[in-house]
Amino acid sequence: MEKKLYIANWKSHKTASQALEWLESFGKNSQKMDFKNKIVVVCPAFTALSACFSYIKAHNLPILLGAQNVSKFSEGAYTGEVAARHIREFAEFVIIGHSERRTNFLETDKDVEEKVARAKQERLRTIVCVQDEKGFIPKDSDYVAYEPVAAIGTGNPDNPDNIQRVFHVLRSTTGRTSFIYGGSVDDENITSFLNVPHFGGFLVGGASLDPVTFLNLLSQ
Ligand code: PGA
Repeated sequence: MEKKLYIANWKSHKTASQALEWLESFGKNSQKMDFKNKIVVVCPAFTALSACFSYIKAHNLPILLGAQNVSKFSEGAYTGEVAARHIREFAEFVIIGHSERRTNFLETDKDVEEKVARAKQERLRTIVCVQDEKGFIPKDSDYVAYEPVAAIGTGNPDNPDNIQRVFHVLRSTTGRTSFIYGGSVDDENITSFLNVPHFGGFLVGGASLDPVTFLNLLSQ
């Protein structure tokens, strides 16, 4: 069975010390859990990546790290940017093209394409977000996450039938066989998605902020 990805997108929440509290609670409450068929990826703010990396290593937690964005430039004179090379020191994954970046930071398909290329140069595994079945997906993307805007942060997830329809279209247009869904997934509705064909995992925002809720969600 293919392992499902459970990606916690903390967005612009949690300082480094709050992130460590979360990891401590996760560690304490997950000791009896079986992660055999799951890959857990936590995506904190850039400023918390280093502390999380050290903590996860020291406590041998079953968590991989991801970033929520990456510069489209390689390292150099780009004030304020965080390049793939910087991320790779601590993380293995990166989310690219989230709708919040498209809306608030005017990211375009071309930016997404360039970011995927930079990330791949540093061997980061890329999670590219699309808002619908027509969304732009660079060829080199590792994972595709379907994230309908109306479902993000609203408590109204897309329904499994429509997710199945979108995955079906994405499957025929991309040839891929596994897709991620994100948008108001929580510990109560998660089981309704698990049987959708080609379901490869979840991108979880709000319900990932509390470690106990996130563990509940993982345990289903
Ligand atoms: P949400 O966010 O789970 O809070 O809806 C999902 C996302 O934006 O990745």
